[in-house]
Amino acid sequence: MKILVMNGPNLNLLGQREPGIYGTENYEYLCAMVKEHAASRGAQCDCFQSNHEGALIDAIHDANGVYDAIVFNPGAYTHYSYALHDALKSVQVPCIEVHISNVHQREEFRHKSVTAPACVGQICGLGLKGYLLAMDYFLEAGK
Ligand code: DQA
Repeated sequence: MKILVMNGPNLNLLGQREPGIYGTENYEYLCAMVKEHAASRGAQCDCFQSNHEGALIDAIHDANGVYDAIVFNPGAYTHYSYALHDALKSVQVPCIEVHISNVHQREEFRHKSVTAPACVGQICGLGLKGYLLAMDYFLEAGK
């Protein structure tokens, strides 16, 4: 089982960015955590982060036929990127959307996800643990 963990804009600044909302662990910690989690379950995990919509779209296209699953935090693109929605719909790789914060407790513009309808499901508000729970869904299904 090969899982691609993708993160969108500003998530490279985890740990520094609004730590009261996103926590104090940085992006490198997140990548090490998901890789270790996958390895402990006999799976492989790669991480990809970009602040650019087109680069995220390319990564989704390139995942087709290479990865069994995508765990994706699209950042603010969640709320308005129809292009990311279409990219997820264009490939055969199932995706779970993850948000570190509980977007429903926050500003109104964060309540809507245009990417979640292109995903198997969505996890939000559980901090970095949400990434591991999303991975577990695929790891258990892949057994
Ligand atoms: C986020 C929530 C988004 O609204 C925000 O734009 C982010 C991070 C989260 O992980 O909680 O960049 O996706």
